[in-house]
Amino acid sequence: MIVHISSQLIVNWYHQYGRKNLPWQINKTLYTVWISEIMLQQTSVKTVIPYFQKFLLRFPNIKILNNASLDEILYLWSGLGYYSRARNIYKTSKIIEKEFKGQFPDQFSDVIKLPGIGKSTAGAILSLSLNYFYSILDGNVKRILIRYYNIMNDLTKNKMEKKLWNLIELITPIHHTGKFNQAMMDIGSLICTPLIPKCSLCPIKKTCVSFRKNNWKKTSFKTSKTKHLQKESWFVLIEFNNTFWMNQNINKLIWKNLFYFPNFINESEMLNWLKAKKINIKKIKKMPSFFHKFSHFTLNIHPILINLSFFEHSFFLSNNEKGIWFNKQKPQHIGLPKAVQKMLDFLKK
Ligand code: ADE
Repeated sequence: MIVHISSQLIVNWYHQYGRKNLPWQINKTLYTVWISEIMLQQTSVKTVIPYFQKFLLRFPNIKILNNASLDEILYLWSGLGYYSRARNIYKTSKIIEKEFKGQFPDQFSDVIKLPGIGKSTAGAILSLSLNYFYSILDGNVKRILIRYYNIMNDLTKNKMEKKLWNLIELITPIHHTGKFNQAMMDIGSLICTPLIPKCSLCPIKKTCVSFRKNNWKKTSFKTSKTKHLQKESWFVLIEFNNTFWMNQNINKLIWKNLFYFPNFINESEMLNWLKAKKINIKKIKKMPSFFHKFSHFTLNIHPILINLSFFEHSFFLSNNEKGIWFNKQKPQHIGLPKAVQKMLDFLKK
């Protein structure tokens, strides 16, 4: 016989041990919970905290956000990764202005239609900010369910999703929904951790099937065995008067709308480009290469530094190139990928 997860035990645990003082849990509104939930997608609480604080300082409410440019939002997102989230926040702010009279909607059917918001995030926003009765099914909650109910990994992805949604909707309580949901995420990230769960601290261990059978390893998520793709890229840091030439990337899948240095998939392409720009390639300095990870591939970055002479600079500009001279001392408010910041930081050393 299955003993379902007791929401009472989960809520009791929340009162004693749950996280209650995260920056987005103080003076909660739909707006602050929306921003925090988007930032928390695929990103840890620790990483999100300083980004959330800076974002709220600059955009304390949705009205101020509605007047922001995409560049300004990407500027505050720089380094956090998964930049489509920032673009979706920008798109959402426009929709809210046009269709919801400047107020973040509080109806599930409206929230779920907003860009970048699926069923779980819509449930998180409404339950955590307004205590509405909706479930959350993020990675943490999934791991708890899979272990507690000892669900084997032999289902198709769709069937697994369906099964997990059915379970979480069955056990989510009508009262204290927000506390229950927060507690499940906290237990998932603090106790029922992916590698070595701290079962002795778990409020539902008595009825957890994996705990009883001591087989939490078997019900852990499959680690992806697919080989991580690696790509090479040569980045050219063109320096003139302490500023660096950067282009805005408009149509690529990664780093869309962010600014970065001219880049090439091999060295000879880079050299040809420099020659065409009448830049003396004898002056190039190689900087240390490094890896930058994306969700689906790794980029092996080879940065090259080159200081332009006055003549080279004049010729470079006469080509009508589109871009900006980025000033490290007085940075323009634009989106910069973390890897670009890393290359700039390296030059300080
Ligand atoms: N992950 C997603 N939302 C979260 C939240 N509100 N607290 C902790 N982890 C989360």
